[in-house]
Amino acid sequence: MNKDLLSCAELTKDDLNAIIELSRKLKKERGTPAAIKPLAGKSIGMIFAKSSTRTRVSFEVGIQELGGYPVVLDQGQTQMGRGETIPDTAHVLERYLQGIVIRTYKQSDVEGLAANSRYPVINALTDEYHPCQALTDIFTMWEYSGGNLAGLKLAYLGDGASNMANSLMLATQLAGIDMAIAAPEEFAPMQSILDRKADGRSTWTTDVTEALRDADFIYTDVWVSMGFEAESRRRMEILAPYQLNMANLKKAKPGAKVLHCLPAHRGEEITDDVMDSDASIVFDQAENRLHVQKAIMTLLMG
Ligand code: CP
Ligand code: NVA
Repeated sequence: MNKDLLSCAELTKDDLNAIIELSRKLKKERGTPAAIKPLAGKSIGMIFAKSSTRTRVSFEVGIQELGGYPVVLDQGQTQMGRGETIPDTAHVLERYLQGIVIRTYKQSDVEGLAANSRYPVINALTDEYHPCQALTDIFTMWEYSGGNLAGLKLAYLGDGASNMANSLMLATQLAGIDMAIAAPEEFAPMQSILDRKADGRSTWTTDVTEALRDADFIYTDVWVSMGFEAESRRRMEILAPYQLNMANLKKAKPGAKVLHCLPAHRGEEITDDVMDSDASIVFDQAENRLHVQKAIMTLLMG
């Protein structure tokens, strides 16, 4: 595998298969004598410039379960918050740590950290990408489809330009899943990702019904991602027709499952009845963050 996980674009099909297989094994062996400790003796930094519940807890617990020591840092409380450069920070941290997990705003900061560190850097969400979530989503669909990802259809409703949409397109392309995004013009998916040639096709439409037709899985993400709060009103108005509600759920394949990276803003991008329905697998999906990130850290840092 590549040294770092920055977007999902750096992964090969073999990498994806290795992540799925190891996630399955780590999930099965969690808490048993077979559990491996590939991070024994290693300290992994976790830098957060944005809020987090799942990522923060699942990485910290995951590092500890793999035998490592997590060093959690609030980016604003480090000297980065006072202007120390990304390269200088990387050169200092590599003297102490054997890997870094970072959630921040600019993708270029994560790339700068990776380029200037001899140790692996894992992107735990930027404005542009959220690869750990997207790989978790692939693993969750793999579990729910009996291990047969090829030919599945994933419908995605809402903000087609979000970090989730970007990383999910890259991950589904690798997995051979067709991803149909229903989003308004203002929040259309990134053209350069739509245009990539891969096993799975990514398509964009403004028509919710068309995207949902024959979908095996349906995904949505918040309408106002972290850092975009100033656009809240405009986003609520424009994205309202793309809500994942019961009427829209019924347009997918019977038995279709609902995914959401969470946190959900109930009543906005998703309704209570859908979140709480039998179709919803969002909490299994959230649990899988732990297993999949343990697999990623084992492969990159173990
Ligand atoms: N899905 C996700 O990354 O959740 P958090 O923001 O709580 O980490
Ligand atoms: N698109 C969302 C994902 C949260 C996990 C955000 O960036 O806020």
